[in-house]
Amino acid sequence: MDLATSGAASARESSKAVVVGRRTGITACSLLLLSLLIYACPGPPELFSSTAFPVLQHPFDARKSVERDELGIALEGTSMKNKTLIIAILNKAYIGENGMLDLFLLSLHQGENTEFLINYLLLVAVDELAFNRCKALQLHCYHLDSEGVSFSKEAFYMSGNFIKMMWRRTQFLREVLRRGYSFIFTDMDILWLRNPLTRLNGGEDLQISCDNYNGQPFDATSNLINTGFYFISSNSRTIALFNRWYGAMNSSSGMKDQDVLLKMSFDGVFEQLDMKVRYLDTDYFSGFCQKSKDFRKVITVHANCCIGSNAKLIDLRAFLEAWKIHNGTSNASWPKHKSCLLAKNRKLILV
Ligand SMILES: *[C@@H]1O[C@H](CO)[C@@H](O)[C@H](O)[C@H]1NC(C)=O
Ligand SMILES: *[C@@H]1O[C@H](CO)[C@@H](O)[C@H](O)[C@H]1NC(C)=O
Ligand SMILES: *[C@@H]1O[C@H](CO)[C@@H](O)[C@H](O)[C@H]1NC(C)=O
Ligand SMILES: *[C@@H]1O[C@H](CO)[C@@H](O)[C@H](O)[C@H]1NC(C)=O
Repeated sequence: MDLATSGAASARESSKAVVVGRRTGITACSLLLLSLLIYACPGPPELFSSTAFPVLQHPFDARKSVERDELGIALEGTSMKNKTLIIAILNKAYIGENGMLDLFLLSLHQGENTEFLINYLLLVAVDELAFNRCKALQLHCYHLDSEGVSFSKEAFYMSGNFIKMMWRRTQFLREVLRRGYSFIFTDMDILWLRNPLTRLNGGEDLQISCDNYNGQPFDATSNLINTGFYFISSNSRTIALFNRWYGAMNSSSGMKDQDVLLKMSFDGVFEQLDMKVRYLDTDYFSGFCQKSKDFRKVITVHANCCIGSNAKLIDLRAFLEAWKIHNGTSNASWPKHKSCLLAKNRKLILV
């Protein structure tokens, strides 16, 4: 298994991990300290320096963020006027011919009014081959330093390396928020069939996709989030969230970032930080776990509840074809995602 499974985490697995998981180790004391810091530091996120959060180590040099370093140039060159962009992580497992990257881009080309979004897409390459491929396609690319984590080998799902990569991703995205950029984060095993920006305009701090959506957009207690697709606004509340989230890394050994965020959300972190969070309806932001019921509404399709990039590729391609044929009809009947079901039976990883 490779990083192509990054967003494929089964929420059912996640919720189990949460139930049986140990306390994250964030003490009430440090929470209080953080809240005090947050409220003591109003103002636009651009004004935040690393010293605003002395309890947490800043991974980047704060002075550099003012300078036009490589990341600054990449973000400026990719984002819209309102400092909004789309971010996806690219690794070498995705770059083969007719692989995950090609399918992702194909969906953007063939989707309804989605092609222009490629101009605002930043591919964050975690290895040299991925970076070169990105450059060759003349897309917006940024090479993320792996900081000692070996991205060159295949990372098996939920292995130590896989989990390290996920946390490195969280650390990177925190830095993007700190620089004042809002973004849609998307896994690459997602078809983009329509422009999500048309629906992500509610002004919430965080709008996040769900493996299973319970019909209530503001209910944090039972919507099962999937961190493979979300829109986040850069502000003091969301930066505080990422500080807590990334800060929980060391006390969450063996848990991946999504499980930790799910646990934090059940523990009330969004309420504590006064964040407005919308859980995205799977009729619009759908996946294999819960399919959209309406071809006219569907915006994205995520190969969640599925392990293995080959299975994902086969089934996503079939979904793309089905949508193109039946676009315009309301009663969505998707192909059975056969390959994923087979993979599921073999691995017995998903319930
Ligand atoms: C940013 O600008 C784009 C393009 O004009 C728009 O679609 C999007 O809704 C804006 N985002 C926010 C958060 O205002
Ligand atoms: C995790 O622990 C390592 C080693 O003690 C430390 O260097 C690092 O800053 C810690 N990271 C976080 C996010 O707390
Ligand atoms: C889908 O259908 C709508 C209206 O029926 C049409 O405007 C649109 O171009 C179609 N999109 C694709 C990608 O075929
Ligand atoms: C939708 O399609 C399903 C399966 O093809 C069918 O059983 C159902 O009756 C259809 N519903 C409507 C409202 O057409």
